[in-house]
Amino acid sequence: MWYLNGGLPTPLEPVDPDASEYLMPRGREPEVWAVIERESGALAGWVALFAEGGTDVDDRTGELGYRFFRAFWRRGYATEAARAVISDAFERLGIVRITARTMAVNTPSRRVMEKLEMRHTGTRVVAWSDPLPGAEEGEVEYVLERQGWSP
Ligand SMILES: CC(C)(COP(=O)(O)OP(=O)(O)OC[C@H]1O[C@@H](n2cnc3c(N)ncnc32)[C@H](O)[C@@H]1OP(=O)(O)O)[C@@H](O)C(=O)NCCC(=O)NCCS
Repeated sequence: MWYLNGGLPTPLEPVDPDASEYLMPRGREPEVWAVIERESGALAGWVALFAEGGTDVDDRTGELGYRFFRAFWRRGYATEAARAVISDAFERLGIVRITARTMAVNTPSRRVMEKLEMRHTGTRVVAWSDPLPGAEEGEVEYVLERQGWSP
């Protein structure tokens, strides 16, 4: 949670997840996929792809997000799970463009985006109500287009 709320513990049932400044799934959203480690059956984390955009087929976009328990970091799970969700979005949901955002200083998250062959399209400084260390370096946005993508 370091790059989301400064690393504070969060309640199991957030008071109002919709008021959160960052994605706070309740676990029942169809867009949020639980990532289960095959050999142990343990919940390792989640990956989400929220569809956005208009009703026009050529206009359908999605935003990618992920969060894993520390015990499961650096095993390739975020990259593997995000790849599966991207394939599903392009092939089943008909999404044409996927974006992802993170703090510029969140190196692991940016590395996942780079490994997914997403393109860094911009950096902007956001006026957070309670900025985290590194917020002054801004938020980066990465994009992946269906056109030219191969599974
Ligand atoms: C970001 C996060 C999901 C990455 O998960 P992960 O399963 O460890 O990622 P992967 O194992 O697929 O690793 C992807 C790449 O990132 C690199 N990486 C992962 N953790 C890293 C770290 N702490 N420092 C530097 N590089 C790191 C990996 O080495 C790998 O690159 P490589 O193949 O070139 O070595 C995980 O660190 C996490 O849950 N962080 C907290 C939540 C968060 O910040 N989410 C994003 C908010 S926008």
